[in-house]
Amino acid sequence: MTFSGIFGYLRRKISRMPLLLTNIAELIQVDETFRDRIAGPEMSVLNTITNGWLLTSGDLIRDFGSMPVPDHILANLEPGTTVIDATGRMVLPSFCDSHTHLVYAGSREIEYIDKIRGLSYEEIARRGGGILNSAQRLHDASEDELVASALERLNEIMLYGTGAVEIKSGYGLNLEDELKMLRVIRKLQTLSPVTIVATYLAAHAVPAEYRGRQGEYVDRVIAEMIPAVASTGITGFIDVFCDRGFFTVDETASMLEAGARYGFRPKIHANELALSGGIQVGVKYGALSVDHLEFTGPEEIECLLGSSTMPTILPGAAFFLGMDYAPARPMIQAGLPVAMASDFNPGSSPSGNMQFILSMACIKYRLLPEEAIHAVTLNGAYAMGLSRTHGTITRGKKANLLITRPIPTYSFLPYAYGSNKAETIILNGELIRHTEMNTSADQVRKIRT
Ligand code: NIG
Ligand code: FE
Repeated sequence: MTFSGIFGYLRRKISRMPLLLTNIAELIQVDETFRDRIAGPEMSVLNTITNGWLLTSGDLIRDFGSMPVPDHILANLEPGTTVIDATGRMVLPSFCDSHTHLVYAGSREIEYIDKIRGLSYEEIARRGGGILNSAQRLHDASEDELVASALERLNEIMLYGTGAVEIKSGYGLNLEDELKMLRVIRKLQTLSPVTIVATYLAAHAVPAEYRGRQGEYVDRVIAEMIPAVASTGITGFIDVFCDRGFFTVDETASMLEAGARYGFRPKIHANELALSGGIQVGVKYGALSVDHLEFTGPEEIECLLGSSTMPTILPGAAFFLGMDYAPARPMIQAGLPVAMASDFNPGSSPSGNMQFILSMACIKYRLLPEEAIHAVTLNGAYAMGLSRTHGTITRGKKANLLITRPIPTYSFLPYAYGSNKAETIILNGELIRHTEMNTSADQVRKIRT
């Protein structure tokens, strides 16, 4: 082991010692019962503990409660436990961002200007821009370049409080490049402390060389690509962009059916551009989530009720593309759960900031702060198959936590949009970023001396 390797190892060992958070103004999203998702009127109820404490052990949440910390906890603290005084601060489970495309090469601000000039997302795609543009750049990029740029994005979203994220392939559009993307995602899983779930986005767009032969491309996905991706074992989720101008309901059904033969569970793009039937086909094939949902009417809501599919709304894409907002309120009123995710990608949502998504949930979808917090934590965890381990403050779940800077109430989080309210980040029980608290007192002292 090199000298810096030893240092890194020791640092990890030392920082993996237990953490005891004390004087937490409010511990948010506490769940004692391992609920897997929160639906309907329950979404407006958020369990919290005011003036709380929390203890980690290894990478897990060990215990928590109201101050004072009980004697038996204090008497049995491991030597080396780090105590963090969280006076004035809130502690939340890290955000669970269940839909991103954050592995990509380059950026697409040229199209963004086209959009400002009035072209639609579909018009740009028809001109060979959009996903095909990103596919070409991805093809030209090395795996190392892709890992490096994605890691930068992961680090950025981590500092905004994301602790678990789904990353899709889908800019490959041929077997070799799809496998390249999936290998990059696997590499990221080993490099980043953020929990990463991979999804094989099997049908995102028809590649240029198949223009006018969409059916043949779908046949190829079924005959060649799905079996090859399955054999890598990197992911158990399959995605299809089922929408007007992209893949039809019948094509989607045949790909999901083929995927099911290899054990893939669907998580699909649906109803972003039209009442496409995407929601219905997703539910029919047992999708874990159907995502976007700008075009959702009473029939779609009816179809989702009683299913195991999480309706997932992507506020960033609707905002960036200037689309109508999905009907979150009618969904919740009908008794459905709702998750919200960033859709971080270069074309329709070039940001993975989940604090902004939380604000959008309240400002544009009129969710109450309690509902919005469920949407970006436990319901997002459900949409990645992670609700047993992520998304709430529960004994035995991952110690993936964010400590806010001093804020008056948890409603301040969505209210004060645009600034980063996360001060300290804990992932897998490890302090990732710890801004020395009481800085202002320190600064005052420094000014005086
Ligand atoms: O979720 N809608 C399809 N796919 C992405 C956009 C991908 C892109 O434009 O590069 C989305 O919005
Ligand atoms: Fe997407």
